[in-house]
Amino acid sequence: MTRPCSGVRPLTSFAISDTLCAARKRAAHQPGGVRAVLNMTEIVKCYGPTLVLDGVSLEVKAGEVMALMGENGAGKSTLVKILAGIEPCDSGAIKVSGKTVAIRSPEGARRAGVGYVAQELSVIDSLTVAENVFLGDRSLGILRSPAKLAALAKPYLMRVGLDYVDPLALAEEYSVAERQLIEIARLLSRKCQIAILDEPTAALSETEIVRVKSAVRAIAAEGCAVIYVTHRMPEVFDLTNRVTVLRNGKSFAPLDTPTLSIDALIEVMLGRQLGKMFPPRAANPGAEVLSLSHCLSAGLKSPVSISLRKGEILALAGQVGSGASAVLRVVAGVSPLITGEMRLNGSGYAPRDIGDGIASRVVYCSDDRKRDGIFAVRSVPENLSAPALGAISRFQMLSGGLERAHIRGIASKFGLDERYFNRLAGNLSGGNQQKVALGKWIGLNPRNLLVEEPTRGVDVGARAEIYRHLRQLADDGLSIIFASSDTQEVMGLPDRIATFFHGHLVQIVEAETATAEGLTRDVTRADAAA
Ligand SMILES: Nc1ncnc2c1ncn2[C@@H]1O[C@H](COP(=O)(O)OP(=O)(O)O)[C@@H](O)[C@H]1O
Ligand SMILES: [Mg+2]
Repeated sequence: MTRPCSGVRPLTSFAISDTLCAARKRAAHQPGGVRAVLNMTEIVKCYGPTLVLDGVSLEVKAGEVMALMGENGAGKSTLVKILAGIEPCDSGAIKVSGKTVAIRSPEGARRAGVGYVAQELSVIDSLTVAENVFLGDRSLGILRSPAKLAALAKPYLMRVGLDYVDPLALAEEYSVAERQLIEIARLLSRKCQIAILDEPTAALSETEIVRVKSAVRAIAAEGCAVIYVTHRMPEVFDLTNRVTVLRNGKSFAPLDTPTLSIDALIEVMLGRQLGKMFPPRAANPGAEVLSLSHCLSAGLKSPVSISLRKGEILALAGQVGSGASAVLRVVAGVSPLITGEMRLNGSGYAPRDIGDGIASRVVYCSDDRKRDGIFAVRSVPENLSAPALGAISRFQMLSGGLERAHIRGIASKFGLDERYFNRLAGNLSGGNQQKVALGKWIGLNPRNLLVEEPTRGVDVGARAEIYRHLRQLADDGLSIIFASSDTQEVMGLPDRIATFFHGHLVQIVEAETATAEGLTRDVTRADAAA
């Protein structure tokens, strides 16, 4: 559907209303008549036989942040790569400030005033911060002294909030978020008219996202037209003026963020109504199955006591390094218990490794899908059956029949389409990869599931599906603990929320009564942990 829905009907209890207000205020300052700096029209792009962009248009005005959204594989990266001169298009026109331009290379894009931060970070660790800011800038010449380059880089670093960063230090000394900001400083140094950021916050936690958002606001405030690709709803409502959605190779007329509801946006993205993003909570969780009493382990600075009931979903909310993941790891058997006691189904529980956990029917799905969640170069069935080889073998031989039944069972539990079975797991979308990563553990028929960042890098449609499947599993008696830095899912999915900050458990609250403000305060403020 192309028609923007006008009613403001937030889908979840997430404090979208605040951000909507902020967006409205911004819109009030946005002169409607500002000319478009960028006009891409009727862009067509095929990869081999696959038609990815089928006459797509994108228009962005000076000083506005345009969100570019769509499910994984919708063609967002392809569209911005065409503008950045990285991919050629088959047909279509690009106008910058009213003039038709032919962009045939990254250099050509630069000359046309286009700056680009790719989905994959391109900061070079072995170069200094200043060298990274001016990476590929031919106007500077090669004879610039490091000190001069550093002095030139400083103002750009300051504008993205990196005033404390030493321009002469190697980039490798800084975090992913800081390196992302260095890339944005590079955009500023190019003095571009059009800035593209492709999922700049996908790997960042909420506090880090705040920094990227203010850097993006700074770019827009200087009159730049910003194209911002993201999956994260709060960012869309907080940061952008309009949204262009791509679906099935087509683009939809831009939607004004201030008058947009999440429901309407999701409906445009999916082409159907999502219903509720989050399924209803547990009506009545059962008896306590797991308890931690005064537990300390690596990553925790004060002892944690927490319990979990049968059929309950518990969220551990916190930023990277908060202690939320540390709790998952000690329960999983990944890191040893230093002091305290854990009990599982009424008996002492002290797993020495992941295998011990699995033997006690506790499984752990880590957040690094690429590293240990899936075998990227193996097929989907091989991934799904990997942990269960014992159960699907007879006399030490893999039984084809048992394996097929096993993977079909998992696929139906997670809504994983059987047409993906002959693909390598690494070639699936983020959402399907996550279904595989979760599914392979669910195949072991666990009683307790531990998940880190259940939907990181997963698009909105697949996200809702994963939430629904997790809740269904909980309704069937599985107890689930997940760690997450995503406020929306921490508010929407679980029954209870435990908040963490700097290695301390801050408090445990009922999800029903939690507020986004309270949550954010808990996971970001030092005094809350005292
Ligand atoms: N270099 C490529 N060769 C072939 N197919 C590609 C290539 N890059 C992307 N695709 C395909 O094009 C489609 C759009 O991809 P992409 O632009 O990366 O989507 P998005 O960024 O919206 O997730 C996907 O189906 C993807 O598999
Ligand atoms: Mg992409």
